[in-house]
Order: sequence, then structure tokens, then C-alpha cells
Amino acid sequence: MHKVIYDTDPGVDDAMALLFLHRHPEIDVIGITTVFGNASVETTTRNALFLKREWDIPAPVAKGASVTIDVARAEREWPAMVHGDNGLGNIEVPHTIDLPLDPRPAHRFIIDTVRANPGEVRLVAVGRMTNLAMALKEDPEIAGLVKDVVIMGGNFYVPGNVSPVAEANIHGDPEAADIVMTAPWKVVVIGLDVTSITTMRRSYLGAMAAKGDAAVKLLDGLSQHYIDFYTHAVDDGMMVHDSCAAVYVVAPELFTTITGAVRVVCGGIADGQTVIKPDGRRFPPGDWDGLPSQIVATGIESQKVIDLIRDTLLRA
Ligand code: BDR
Ligand code: CA
Repeated sequence: MHKVIYDTDPGVDDAMALLFLHRHPEIDVIGITTVFGNASVETTTRNALFLKREWDIPAPVAKGASVTIDVARAEREWPAMVHGDNGLGNIEVPHTIDLPLDPRPAHRFIIDTVRANPGEVRLVAVGRMTNLAMALKEDPEIAGLVKDVVIMGGNFYVPGNVSPVAEANIHGDPEAADIVMTAPWKVVVIGLDVTSITTMRRSYLGAMAAKGDAAVKLLDGLSQHYIDFYTHAVDDGMMVHDSCAAVYVVAPELFTTITGAVRVVCGGIADGQTVIKPDGRRFPPGDWDGLPSQIVATGIESQKVIDLIRDTLLRA
């Protein structure tokens, strides 16, 4: 059984990945931690509680960061055109959800849970990396106690989605992402190289909803606004970014990867760009030297990933 802490900013594609993690028989979601990104942390936390309630997910929810790790960074507007004003595609969501939050902040929840399960926890992080960086700063030893960290973020050999060179989760807190990439733990980076070519058609999701239970119908409903947004890039469908990271947890064989030290550009016109120094390539001494070798996805069997998502979500 894979013990997963899901660090997330729900978020439409975050919601699909949550249902995948919850329904996969080999995954035990032992915590959900929230972060700002697709909306404010108040909204993403409310959304996490809403999905927990609607989908009957037992895992505790801990509220996380509301600002970048470098507090001097200016905040930007929430991407309402992608995820809706409420982060869940503008479907009706109650203002408050009558469920308790874990009393700890997300980074503390991560530290305590990793320490209670040494060598076992898989951190699946699909929002800005702020909570993970805060956990590492407060307790650097957790790097040696986590099984691995699977993130959705970054782009290596394809353009970004919020600037020509940067992807949203990394661009939203580049300093945090650089801390996470360069820490002595195993990071698997599932970025736009693979997630932007892994798309689900509206009709495919609709067919799932027709077959599936109320949870899948809710997912279908909250995804419509996001699919409308993606019409500029996808033929009546959506990129399932965060679900690709969730799928990696159980099906790494569906990905091809390279390894090497990864750095994140912090500042300037390439703010938030992720850059790998592939293992085996020789360069003069530089800023990638002596850092842990991480795993970066460069290829994916998209249709198999999409079908695995469908088959998992339809297991009720
Ligand atoms: C990432 O940014 C967010 O909009 C999505 O939820 C995903 O995690 C894609 O760049
Ligand atoms: Ca996300």
C-alpha cells in the first residue's frame, strides 16, 4: 500500500487526481494538505473539505501556505479563467463546510506524519511547493525519511504555460521549488513535457459520468469550465496535469524519464524556469554541481494513463 500525503490547490485537475488517489486500491491517502495557487488558500482549503465530504474521504485536511516562501514576492491574480472564481469551475460550493481541519499547519502535518511513518510516505505535490519547502526548512531531516516526492510542475523541453519558460506551480513560488528540487530526497518531476500531451476529451469524461456514481458526475460537472478554457489548446478536452503525478505513484512504467540535478531560475525574465543538468553530460563547474540527481519525466503513454484514470474512477 502506498501511503500518500496529497499536497494540493484544488483546482479542477487537482480534484480529478484526488478522486484517483482515493479510489486506487493500492493507495492510502493519509493526509491532504492545501496551498494557495489556483485560488486563495481559504478557497482551496474549503474546496478540499468539500471534496472530502462529497467523496467520503477519511484523510484529514491541513491548511497550508498563503504566501510564497520569500514573502517579498508580489502576489499575482488567481487564475479564475482556468479554474473558475471558486477554484472548482464555478459549480455551486457552500461557503463553509462543516468539517474540522487538522489543527496543525500543513508543513507541520507533513513533518509529523513523515516522522510517524519513516521511509514510507510518498508526497504527491501538485500545487506550489511552498508547504514542502517550509517543512524542509523547519525539519531538514525529513528529506531522509520520505520515500519519495512526486510533483506536478515544471517544463524542460517544451514551453511553459504562464510564461514562455515557466509552468504555473513552479512560477508561483520559484524559491520554494528550488529548495524542493535540491534537497537530498528523491524527487520525481512530472511536468508539462508529459502533462500537456495527456488530455481527456469532454465526451470521454461525459461517458465516464454516465456510467459512474455521484462522485464522477460531480467531477464531470466541475470540469466543464476548465474544459471550456482549454479549447485554445485541446480539441474539446482538458490537460489532466495533476492526475499524471498521481498515476506515476502506481504506474511509473507508463513514463520515460531522465535523471540529473534540477535547478529553478529565481528572478528575471526566466523566473520559474526549471533546468536539468542531465547525468553524464559534462559542463564547466556550475550551479548544478554536487546536487542530488532527480528524476524528470520526458515521455508518457498518454492513452494508457487516461484509461487508468477512467478505470480507477469507475471503481466505486
Ligand atoms: C498546474 O497548475 C494548476 O493550474 C493545475 O492545477 C496544475 O497543478 C498546471 O500547470
Ligand atoms: Ca494543481
